[in-house]
Amino acid sequence: MSQSSPQHFIVIGNPIAHSKSPEIHQQFAKQAQLQIRYNRQYCPDDAASFIDVVEAFFNGGGVGANVTVPFKQVAYQLCAERGQLSTHAQVAGAVNTLMLKEGKIYGDNTDGQGLVNHLLSLGWPLQGAKVAILGAGGASRGVALPLIEAGIKQLTIANRTVEKAQALVQQLGTASPIIDSIQPTYCALEQLEGDFDIIINATSIGLSGDMLPLKDSLNCHYAYDMMYGRELPFLTHFSDKGAEVSPGYGMLIGQAALSFKLWTGTSVDLNALNEAQ
Ligand code: ATR
Repeated sequence: MSQSSPQHFIVIGNPIAHSKSPEIHQQFAKQAQLQIRYNRQYCPDDAASFIDVVEAFFNGGGVGANVTVPFKQVAYQLCAERGQLSTHAQVAGAVNTLMLKEGKIYGDNTDGQGLVNHLLSLGWPLQGAKVAILGAGGASRGVALPLIEAGIKQLTIANRTVEKAQALVQQLGTASPIIDSIQPTYCALEQLEGDFDIIINATSIGLSGDMLPLKDSLNCHYAYDMMYGRELPFLTHFSDKGAEVSPGYGMLIGQAALSFKLWTGTSVDLNALNEAQ
């Protein structure tokens, strides 16, 4: 398929120079035989500047925008006040994908489903699984609903500050009826123990290279860190205990593929993409 003028996309963040999204989306576009422009968009770290950038982009004919740190909550507020939100974005309290729907700004969140798709592509069993998520910030909040939709049967949220885990479990209970079906529990990070099928590290500790204070009696078959790009002590810890482990780069690709589908209507074949590399 050929196009006269390429559709325009951006990823908005601060910092943004390191973002791999332009390369990832250009690969998707190549596979879909679409011509696109996808640029990194720096934005000063304040809500007013973010709104100016978004308005200028869509007024100028832009088709879709990804939103990354630190603007996911600001994007959520913008859509809540002036447009619409998907259920996943509502539950996550954060938006990573923006587009126009009937002339209004629409926000979705593809991070959690991107994680689920990556776990499934790794062959990790989610149906009936006992899962623990470490961390109670935005990353943790964004993955809870998609994991429950994927059929897990038990969810525990463990956090250094236990009150935040408690608040998150309470908020989730009111956010979507499906979450009620499994009644998530919470505890302090250093109290978490026992055997889990999957443990997901959604804390930001991987950025520092430090290890979480975990009990020796905590075990799992599969350990996933949402971070990537450096050695992650969390993964080394569980790999040494015999678990299968994965960093989060596949989640990045997964969320990008879902954004691309929302914007262009085209599904990306991630297996074909891997083979092409
Ligand atoms: P994000 O939006 O990426 O989730 P966040 O909202 O700042 O970022 O949350 C970071 C998470 O990592 C929190 O759960 C935080 O624990 P606290 O709520 O107790 O602050 C967790 N975290 C960060 N550094 C940590 C560390 N050194 N040890 C344990 N947990 C840590």
